[in-house]
Amino acid sequence: MKTRIAIFASGNGSNAENIIRYFLKRDTAEVLLVLSNSPKAKVLERAKALNISVVTFSKEDFYMSESVLNRLLNEKIDWIILAGFLLKFPEPILQHFKNKVINIHPALLPKYGGKGMYGMNIHKAIVEKKESETGITIHFVNENYDEGKIIFQAKTEVLGTDTPEIIAKKIHTLEQQYFPKVIENLITENPQDTRLRGHMQ
Ligand code: GRF
Repeated sequence: MKTRIAIFASGNGSNAENIIRYFLKRDTAEVLLVLSNSPKAKVLERAKALNISVVTFSKEDFYMSESVLNRLLNEKIDWIILAGFLLKFPEPILQHFKNKVINIHPALLPKYGGKGMYGMNIHKAIVEKKESETGITIHFVNENYDEGKIIFQAKTEVLGTDTPEIIAKKIHTLEQQYFPKVIENLITENPQDTRLRGHMQ
């Protein structure tokens, strides 16, 4: 039986689409739901175009009711993937999905994590601090921003001439290359996968 995945995303959704497409061709897992706090998010169009059910919810629904949790339970979701999801994840959902919620962060945590550190803010900070490398971190989600156990990191070089936009493209390339495979590896518990050797934490 395939592992059942739900993706939470607030914006563009390039990672969500990449994950959906990857698992359409695999027999290990499938994406059943895409959930968003933003009814105008592009991720919803991307998901609908691939015939994936979408769910939108308000902050009140998310924090004050059990509607989102119940939807996840009704769909028998096994794993939750956060891909550009900007709200703090509620405790009751984390408790139901212990060690089954993972996030991708576009920097090498623990550096450049925490409140306000998302998207271009991170890449601008990397340029300002003249970092020579940056990368992606895939990690478990706990009650604190960006502090859950690290599962995987991949690095890319930052040149003195790189702008935040160029860094964003390099990060995007790493995300597209690795995120679905790391998810698959994790859910099939196969840390020895040679495609990822040297990167798994
Ligand atoms: C990605 O850079 C991801 O690392 C971060 O948010 C961004 C989402 O991009 N958490 P997209 O919406 O998947 O295009």
